[in-house]
Amino acid sequence: MKLVHDPSEIAALAAGWRGQGLKIALVPTMGWFHAGHLALMRQARQKADRVVVSLFVNPIQFGPGEDLAAYPRDLQRDRELAAGEEVDVLYAPSATDMYPPGFQTTIRVVELGRGLCGASRPGHFDGVCTVVMKLLHQTQPHLAVFGEKDFQQLAVIRRMVRDLDLAVDIVGHPIVREASGLAMSSRNSYLTEGEKEQALCLHRAILFAQEKAKGAAQSLSAAVLCCEIEDNIRQVPGCVVEYVEIVDADSLERCETVGGNSRLIMAVKVHERVRLIDNTRLCEV
Ligand code: PAJ
Repeated sequence: MKLVHDPSEIAALAAGWRGQGLKIALVPTMGWFHAGHLALMRQARQKADRVVVSLFVNPIQFGPGEDLAAYPRDLQRDRELAAGEEVDVLYAPSATDMYPPGFQTTIRVVELGRGLCGASRPGHFDGVCTVVMKLLHQTQPHLAVFGEKDFQQLAVIRRMVRDLDLAVDIVGHPIVREASGLAMSSRNSYLTEGEKEQALCLHRAILFAQEKAKGAAQSLSAAVLCCEIEDNIRQVPGCVVEYVEIVDADSLERCETVGGNSRLIMAVKVHERVRLIDNTRLCEV
């Protein structure tokens, strides 16, 4: 596996592969790989001839007071894990190469980026879209793999790709969980074992909602179900609900009742320090 830092080097590699008719997949990440990231890499490996994994802790998607400085980083560890998934290139640009002095362009997906996580993290999805757009241009992939763990991010990226006529296939990957049910996240490393226990309130909420939705879809009030979930989470010491919503999976607009395309989507703060998100499809499969 090749480690590339220079944007012009990855662009040249991608152009060469394109010239040879090879299919390129990109997996954008911020590193500190866990089984969720590795599953995305595996899916990319199955679908393409060349797999590029980008590793860039993107400063412009962090708000003031967020965990940019503390975000876990270990290039050597990530390098070994990516090599184990037969990734062709780990692309780790520097912040100054990505955002040289004078940089001032922003990509904004106006509606989809506004609510849910966008409400408490203003500008977050602008930062995500801007960096993903740059990564797509630099690596010229035929497909890019994103996790459903960040469900709003996936919806926003799909919209950007459609709106801007980008010739790239966006592939969604299901959420990968720890054996306990906790969704894998680089931010889980901020949690003690006891806090991880408490963070399981998110997974319990998912199981509870799925159970309620069974057979009751259409007649089940989304608002009532959300209130029940919020009440349950409130019982867990140290956990504060940021939002619990049931939305249409495409428009991300609130549903009145639980229906065919409903998605339960939640953000919870654990001990004021760690913000965790999780989501699930609610309709019967
Ligand atoms: P990061 O949080 O590192 O996540 C990289 C990719 O891994 C995203 O597509 C995310 O949805 C996916 N992922 C994370 N945890 C997952 C899990 N438990 N199961 C399945 N997929 C999971 O998301 C970002 O980085 C950044 O916003 C990025 C897109 C790289 C732009 O900077």
